[in-house]
Amino acid sequence: MKTVIKNIAELIQTEDTPRKWVAGNDMKNINTIKDAFVEIENGLITSFGSMGQWNGIEDWNDTEVIDAEGGMVFPTYCDSHTHLVFAASREGEFVDRINGLSYTEIAEKGGGILNSAEKLQNASEDELYEDALMRLNELVQMGTGAIEIKSGYGLTLESELKILRVIERLKENTDVTIKATFLGAHALPKEYQDNKEGYMDLVIDEMLPKVIEEKLADYVDIFCEEGYFTIDDTKRLLEAANKFGIKAKTHVNQFNVIGGVKASVDLEALSVDHLEKMVNEDYEALKGSNCMPTILPSCSFFLGIPYGPAKEMMERGLPVALASDYNPGSSPSGNMNFVASLGCITLKMTPEEVINATTINTAYAMGAEKELGSIAIGKKANLFITKPIPSYGYLHYSFGNNVIEKVMINGKFQ
Ligand code: NIG
Ligand code: FE
Repeated sequence: MKTVIKNIAELIQTEDTPRKWVAGNDMKNINTIKDAFVEIENGLITSFGSMGQWNGIEDWNDTEVIDAEGGMVFPTYCDSHTHLVFAASREGEFVDRINGLSYTEIAEKGGGILNSAEKLQNASEDELYEDALMRLNELVQMGTGAIEIKSGYGLTLESELKILRVIERLKENTDVTIKATFLGAHALPKEYQDNKEGYMDLVIDEMLPKVIEEKLADYVDIFCEEGYFTIDDTKRLLEAANKFGIKAKTHVNQFNVIGGVKASVDLEALSVDHLEKMVNEDYEALKGSNCMPTILPSCSFFLGIPYGPAKEMMERGLPVALASDYNPGSSPSGNMNFVASLGCITLKMTPEEVINATTINTAYAMGAEKELGSIAIGKKANLFITKPIPSYGYLHYSFGNNVIEKVMINGKFQ
């Protein structure tokens, strides 16, 4: 069965030659085709171009024709950093923050990641799966077609495996492209408060080999931050993961600069994420590397902490990716339309830069740039059709409003 989407006002982020990512000044540009069509077969994009170039329909019995009715077509968002599987919301901490406590103070009094870990340890795999599936379906309707999901609310062997098995079930039962990341080193559990070495031994010598043996993770992650895990912990974990052939995506520079960017880049991490605080050394480490700097603006928005310096990164010739960080503590929204709007409004990125940062660059940051992130022949037909809008920048300008009409994943409308 073939599908043709015709009468597209503008087809966004088309690509003739596959790219790894888009960096620096190049982020200012996207390719688009006005008055366009796109053809899809077996879940893949087989042809696209202007309506004038369209050959029409060869076999009416085998072709579904969709009229975009003047809407635009974008590739779906790739969200390369989320903690989608969690057991409970944390709006109590939200109120504590309104009343003046900081994220760190809340964590110190037993809230934060340890609060989520306790709730998750008591939840069944089925409950976690049903909740996560519901969240994922909501995100798809908001234009997300690929997502990375981390563990890290387990913090015991059993619970880390539970959360990773939930991610595996989401992979098996949905059409969304999903990557799983093992984040056992997210916070130090209470039982290990005076024995960090012991917990790192557990993560590296017991959890990681089991996770690898059961093929439950595509990547590893660690919260490299004062009060959480050190540079030495980070190096130990990444070296161990590299021996298994698994790359890292790390949480670094959220509150403090302790050298996590360089340590991650030196050990060939695929991405470094957060980056609210950056120093010259961090930019230098990233220059010429294969590591994608990833900013999480909805976390900055929600916690009221600084925003990552997207413009400076681009001025220094680096690529930038924007992801949601969806999690119950620091970003209880996975709406990539909002992330994209924040990219323009708070990071001062142009709509073109934001489109590159939320499609091709986030696809790279989750190892999916060959199959997703642009409208290109042979890539997965993961795209969305908008309502009629005056220009593509309207998507970012019109923050908080829903302009997405229909979402297609693997060639199927959802
Ligand atoms: O990316 N910074 C560490 N981890 C998450 C927050 C987790 C939580 O508060 O539950 C983040 O912001
Ligand atoms: Fe995160």
